[in-house]
Amino acid sequence: MEFTTSHNRLLRVIIILCICSSLTLANGPGHRSSVIERKIDSLLSMMTLEEKVGQLVQVSGNFNDGSGRKTLTPEHIEMIRQGRVGSFLNVFGATATREIQTIAIEESRLKIPLLFGFDVIHGYLTTFPIPLAEASTWDPALIEKAERVAAVEATAAGIHWTFAPMVDIARDPRWGRIAEGAGEDPYLGSCVAAARVRGFQGEDLAAESSLMACAKHFAGYGGAEGGRDYNTADISERTLREVYLPPFRAAVDAGAGTLMSSFNEISGIPSTANVKLITNTLRGEWGFDGFVVSDWNSVGELINHGVATDPAEAAVLGLKAGVDMDMESYCYQETLATVVHDGRVSESELNEAVRRILQAKFRLGLFDNPYKNCDVKREQQDILTAEHRRMAREVAQHSIVLLKNEGHVLPLRKDLKSVAVIGPLADDAATPLGPWKQNGRPEDVVSVLSGIKAKLSDGTSVFHAEGCEVEGSSKPAIEEAAEIAKKVDAVIVVVGETADMSGEGASRSSLNLPGDQEELVKAMLAIGKPLVVVLMNGRPLAIPWIAANVPAIVETWFLGVECGNAVADVLFGDVNPSGKLPVTFPRAVGQLPVYYNHKNTGRPADDHQRNTSRYIDLPSTPLYPFGYGLSYTSISYSQFQLGSTTMEPGDSVVVSVVVKNTGNCQGEEVVQLYIRDEVGSVTRPVKELKAFQRISLAPGQSRQVSFTLTPEHLKFYDRSMRWSVEPGKFKVYVGPNSAEGLEGEFTYSSS
Ligand code: GLC
Repeated sequence: MEFTTSHNRLLRVIIILCICSSLTLANGPGHRSSVIERKIDSLLSMMTLEEKVGQLVQVSGNFNDGSGRKTLTPEHIEMIRQGRVGSFLNVFGATATREIQTIAIEESRLKIPLLFGFDVIHGYLTTFPIPLAEASTWDPALIEKAERVAAVEATAAGIHWTFAPMVDIARDPRWGRIAEGAGEDPYLGSCVAAARVRGFQGEDLAAESSLMACAKHFAGYGGAEGGRDYNTADISERTLREVYLPPFRAAVDAGAGTLMSSFNEISGIPSTANVKLITNTLRGEWGFDGFVVSDWNSVGELINHGVATDPAEAAVLGLKAGVDMDMESYCYQETLATVVHDGRVSESELNEAVRRILQAKFRLGLFDNPYKNCDVKREQQDILTAEHRRMAREVAQHSIVLLKNEGHVLPLRKDLKSVAVIGPLADDAATPLGPWKQNGRPEDVVSVLSGIKAKLSDGTSVFHAEGCEVEGSSKPAIEEAAEIAKKVDAVIVVVGETADMSGEGASRSSLNLPGDQEELVKAMLAIGKPLVVVLMNGRPLAIPWIAANVPAIVETWFLGVECGNAVADVLFGDVNPSGKLPVTFPRAVGQLPVYYNHKNTGRPADDHQRNTSRYIDLPSTPLYPFGYGLSYTSISYSQFQLGSTTMEPGDSVVVSVVVKNTGNCQGEEVVQLYIRDEVGSVTRPVKELKAFQRISLAPGQSRQVSFTLTPEHLKFYDRSMRWSVEPGKFKVYVGPNSAEGLEGEFTYSSS
């Protein structure tokens, strides 16, 4: 039936009256949610089965219509008119989203607004450092500000919902997606997850610049065997709950509007079909009331997993597990009406999924104003602003980790007569955007070379040579670079990985520097000038030769648009580096898995005892430990004190140390507190991060840093999988990283 304009107007009035009739006066969150529930009830009562299924369908847009414009296919537009799609991803821009939303509001029967999702992983157009770099700041408040900027920009471009934060714990750097998360530790990962959700969503989802978050990939994705993406994860319930789930719980407790189910299986059950994980734990135990979207085609991939014979079975498994929206598998679109008709899924189960999605749209304010993010003026004025770039530079500065500085090679003097900036990544403006650049543009990036040139006066000659490619052999270029390096006062070599060597589908079997880059570094070292290696990479690298032989090494990850300026700020001393590693650096790929919070085993590693848990051809320690990072100043720890050597239920123990800046420049330090439960009903990690504080100290300044430990910090899943604390001795460590620090001990008794 063709709707005329007058029909449309009349229908619109009827729909509004039906929805309004369900209204009660809303005078607070509780009332507001009951008002929303009544609106949803009213809408559900008007929806056909096909329209209900439509809300559960997410389709990727962003198709070129030949004119270079990103738009939708005619089939997409017809789906919108018929109410057979509820959300698009990869559609962005105030104009494009307004055009598409207008079809839904003006030409569909029930005028339910569409939801536009996009991967805003570390910035929209102002690209920030990759999440692993941001985690190196150990500064949740700073990370929250970065995500706030991302939200302002993304919502100015018509986007309602980001598929972030990625909160997967990653202990295997072969896995390319380690770049997207916060590293190996559940506590740091939880602090970062909550900060990202707060930053994206702000105080009220209905606000103009609030971007709905999506904690992903639920769950256990980072536990892929061999670090091979999408691979099997065989994770015990205890490890799942103590290592992989805490950041998701933190994201949910911070109010994340959605979660994304992951591709992988956990011990035989694909997460996208895991009732226990999604319905029982996420919803039942944690009280999550948002909605769950599948990962791209992860519903359809239940067939590859071998737990579904066809798309209908896959759709039944996904929906019954609690996956509300199907991203790009078409299983829901093509089979859900059928499986409801044949009773494999009840209409009430379907309604619950629809309800959760409509609830998100109401909470976002899209029913009140479906065009709230479609303001071209805001898009022009709120994106890639000077303030946003300043913010990106500040985050990049704090993301840099000083790994070595023998003989105080760093900071370099600004009055050098000449400096050579060598390496395949030295003037690369694409790589600093990282593997999830999305709309990030190389032309907006300050390369390392450009940043150094901008930093130095005309009195310093800056030379550049690539020296080699990232991959492939290029010996002659190394000799050319060496000739340049011989003539200068200092040499900076920028090496690492290209952006596509990490991220999704980019697992590496080696952690070495690709290509001839290590040869290039050796050639530079042989020249005998002051040498600094700048690493640009998306994962920990096994660089034992460089670590042993090069005097100065900084880890910069992928730093985004302000890469070059931040690197120059640090190399030439305007900023004292303060980053700490959120992930362990192994000595070799063969040392994996290596992470700080490991178990002691019955034969703890002892490099002097053969029959212990070690490799005979490698020291047992990592190349760089979790939490490690140096400074241009020196920091000392002293006066470790425990407020008590006993703790009982309801008690707390105050742990304090004095931290002093014993150097001659201002410095920031991340003071870290770890515990060890010495004896439990099950084996316990040799260390667990439980708290950290970032402090700033002037030269010579001392500060007492205190932490308060309670029984809650001591809990774990005991032999019966009860979350509890057991009596016994606990060691406490406070220091600059997971391998050093002052220690004490207290006893917890439950009597
Ligand atoms: C990808 C990723 C997921 C992303 C989604 C949409 O396959 O696994 O992280 O959000 O598809 O791009």
